[in-house]
Amino acid sequence: MSREDTAIVAKRVDESPADTGEIRALAQSAGYTVVGEVVQQRDPHPGHEFGTGAIAELRREVQECDAGAVVVDNDLDANRAFALADRLPDNTAVRDRKRLVIDIFGERAATRRAQLEVRLAELEYELPRAEERAKRGEDVGRQGFKSAGESPASQVRAAYKREIKQVEDALADIESADANRRADRHAAGFDLVALAGYTNAGKSTLLRRLADDHAVEENDRRHADLAGVAESRDGLFTTLNTTTRRATLGDRRLLVTDTVGFVSGLPHWLVDSFESTLASAYRADAVLLVADATDSVDRLREKVTTSRDVLADHRDADGGVVPVLNKVDAASRLDEKRRVVGDLVGDPVCVSALDGSGLDALADRLAASLPERETARFSLPQSDATMSFVSWLYDHANTVDVAHGETVEVEISGRREVVALARGRADDVGADTAARRDS
Ligand code: GTP
Repeated sequence: MSREDTAIVAKRVDESPADTGEIRALAQSAGYTVVGEVVQQRDPHPGHEFGTGAIAELRREVQECDAGAVVVDNDLDANRAFALADRLPDNTAVRDRKRLVIDIFGERAATRRAQLEVRLAELEYELPRAEERAKRGEDVGRQGFKSAGESPASQVRAAYKREIKQVEDALADIESADANRRADRHAAGFDLVALAGYTNAGKSTLLRRLADDHAVEENDRRHADLAGVAESRDGLFTTLNTTTRRATLGDRRLLVTDTVGFVSGLPHWLVDSFESTLASAYRADAVLLVADATDSVDRLREKVTTSRDVLADHRDADGGVVPVLNKVDAASRLDEKRRVVGDLVGDPVCVSALDGSGLDALADRLAASLPERETARFSLPQSDATMSFVSWLYDHANTVDVAHGETVEVEISGRREVVALARGRADDVGADTAARRDS
């Protein structure tokens, strides 16, 4: 274990008691071994967050444990971070909560979109700090072209702003490619379903239950090899990548996407910085909001409230949100939890992704929340063009009934987009001979 990998956890609270469980877990997820902790109860010190007593204690702990970093549970602005580092032994890295979360997400972001979003969060986080370093005369390595009269700090700022713009442009490109892909999937007859909820709620497990087979596609060609399995493990964090699989619900064909798991204590600015990942995932026809029935009642209430708010912020599509209370096989006080979720987001479907119970009820609720089907009937000439149109219908519509007589009578049901496309094609096929009747 090298010195850089060891950390002292520090936390300032307005009121005792202080719970350092989560920041310790975050530090561990970021690769640190936690070798000590310092907790202080006081109002934030305006200059360096902690008061002098806690800082002296931190200095002592760092020296005694030979720690390379101090991991602070509070968010530090640039000035406080520097002021605190100045008061610690040389070469002690100061990492606050935001920085840890960015690092952890950075490690796990495997798609280009996720990497760009992490980069954006990082640039925005680093900008004021780099400016501060430039003001202090440190080399930030980002001055770019020196223009006369510009201070090093404003040059650094301009360089950061340039890169931020580049990353935002790249994300916008991905966003529009994504919108096209959604339209293609709809046109191919798929309903889109997203799984949302906190990490560890059982989304990946549920996805495997619902899925017909293997993943259809990852976000990104670069990491197509990750597409095979939706990874599932106990832990604080999931990746930022989404996995999409095919599923069948009666006569409907679905693409179900496992989305980013919310993380406890995730700051709002960070949630916002993953706007593009979230928005894209939630622009589905229906969202399954998965909650963990083994959480305590309070925890459950808190998580479902946050999930509901994030969804409301990022979801602009119509269509249903279906609350799902998972892990009922292992839960206590289920009736109470069901009421808590019910009051917040509507009566949940109680399931166990592990043993499969409740999945039929889930299928019914999901089907009811998807967009209504449209139907159409066509009377077509007997021809090769009609045959190829009918085979197109089998690929895109949800139900196809064909009766052959003098003409070919076809009745279909499917997504609005598919029925609209079918009408256009029917016109082409039967241009001079077919009478088309719509129901
Ligand atoms: P992230 O990928 O981290 O966002 O988590 P997730 O929501 O996809 O959860 P995941 O499917 O990885 O499940 C988390 C843990 O809960 C795993 O250990 C699962 O085996 C367990 N789990 C999932 N569903 C159930 C369930 O119905 N009952 C019980 N008892 N455990 C479950």
